[in-house]
Amino acid sequence: MDTVAAVILAAGKGTRMKSGMVKVLHPAAGRPMIRWAVDAARAAGAAPAVLVVGHQADAVRRVFADEADIRCAMQEEQLGTGHAVACAREGLAGFKGTVLILCGDTPLLRGETLQGLIAYHRENRAVLTVLTAVIADPHGYGRVVRDSDGRVVRIVEQKDATPEERALNEINSGIYCMEADFLFANIDSVSSDNAQQEFYLTDLVSIAVKQGLACLGRSTDDPDEIMGVNDRIQLAEASRILRRRINLDLMCSGVSLVDPSQTYIDHGVRIGPDSIVHPNCSISGSTVIGSGCTIENGVSIKECTIGDGCHIKAGSVLEGSVLHADVSVGPMAHLRPGTLLHDQVKIGNFVETKKAVMGQGSKASHLTYLGDAEIGSNVNIGCGTITCNYDGVNKHRTVIGDDVFIGSDVQLVAPVTVGRNSLVAAGTTVTVDVPPDSLAISRVAQVNKEGWRLKKK
Ligand code: UD1
Ligand code: CA
Repeated sequence: MDTVAAVILAAGKGTRMKSGMVKVLHPAAGRPMIRWAVDAARAAGAAPAVLVVGHQADAVRRVFADEADIRCAMQEEQLGTGHAVACAREGLAGFKGTVLILCGDTPLLRGETLQGLIAYHRENRAVLTVLTAVIADPHGYGRVVRDSDGRVVRIVEQKDATPEERALNEINSGIYCMEADFLFANIDSVSSDNAQQEFYLTDLVSIAVKQGLACLGRSTDDPDEIMGVNDRIQLAEASRILRRRINLDLMCSGVSLVDPSQTYIDHGVRIGPDSIVHPNCSISGSTVIGSGCTIENGVSIKECTIGDGCHIKAGSVLEGSVLHADVSVGPMAHLRPGTLLHDQVKIGNFVETKKAVMGQGSKASHLTYLGDAEIGSNVNIGCGTITCNYDGVNKHRTVIGDDVFIGSDVQLVAPVTVGRNSLVAAGTTVTVDVPPDSLAISRVAQVNKEGWRLKKK
């Protein structure tokens, strides 16, 4: 295959988003919209890709800072799609071959569709091929005008179209293949003599036709794919379609989703077979979940690694945590970043952990806060236990050895160590280190004053 490069237009602000953030950085199914477009171009074999950036250019550049096949070209003023492509000229200096032109706001576009477009363009030795779609409501799009033999003759924007042209329902997707020599020889001839006084890229169609060059339109059979996102309503719709694709892939790979329409799994999440995800869960970031796991209703998981056979019960929130195999969490537990739970750990309801390591088989079953803690294996943390890790200035560590039993309502005032196989009695405030194999108890002796209530009356 000859070389293909891509130009991706992403300089516009996206006024209709009504946002402080440039449109192409708004996330769809967990990643910036522009990333979907870039990956579609890559999947079609295009390299390099030149991103035409303008609004919040630095923020867009940052997304691709470490990716060598992505170059950015600056368009200082947004003078139209034709002007935008002209800005990519330097980025493609010396390139000979086919230029794939896309917009940064079409997250549903698939690599295979672009591959089909490139193949069609080449088989027909065209200088320009536009991807089109026949849709029921063409409002707002450029219309594809064909002659009586069905040949594409021009593209006319909604605002410049005659009533007859507006009635056409074959639209310009804004996705094209163009031969680089044709493109860059003619892009400067595009004029801004139109309703929007913009330099229209679409004018290259009539320019090619006038020069007697092969200019084609190829219609897609899935108009969903070329949907451009202009506002937040379309963003929600595109995100829904992306999530559906992700969910279908997961189900085909052996994951059960109780109600896929109410399951929110981002791009990049991996889940092993025979795991089951109940409704209203959000699973995001680069989360990996093993096989045979159960994720109950209303669980939120972000940037976690979860081993096989884990059970995450309803309403739990897990962030930046690592769980080994057969761990049970929740209901309504909160695992904060830096939590590491070894095999068979049990975290019960209303337990919060942060930078806490728990060894194999250890349990904190109810109402506990474990922060900056290193806990050995086979430890029991009683109900209401708190690591007092923060003195208002610094954080301090609590270390608990293997086989320790911490009774209910214990406060561990860090920094403090409880040696292995010790027992801390219920209600104790631990302020000094406990040696191994010991009992630690700190309680005020109880006094019973009999008849006291009766005398008060
Ligand atoms: C464009 C097409 C229209 C097509 C539609 C498909 C033209 C003249 N019209 O219209 O035929 O049906 O896309 O969605 O090309 N951009 C820049 N710099 C600019 C202008 C635009 O980078 O100076 C970028 C935008 O950020 C956006 C893309 O180009 O990603 C499309 O621009 P937009 O203004 O949305 O074009 P449309 O009016 O939708
Ligand atoms: Ca648009």
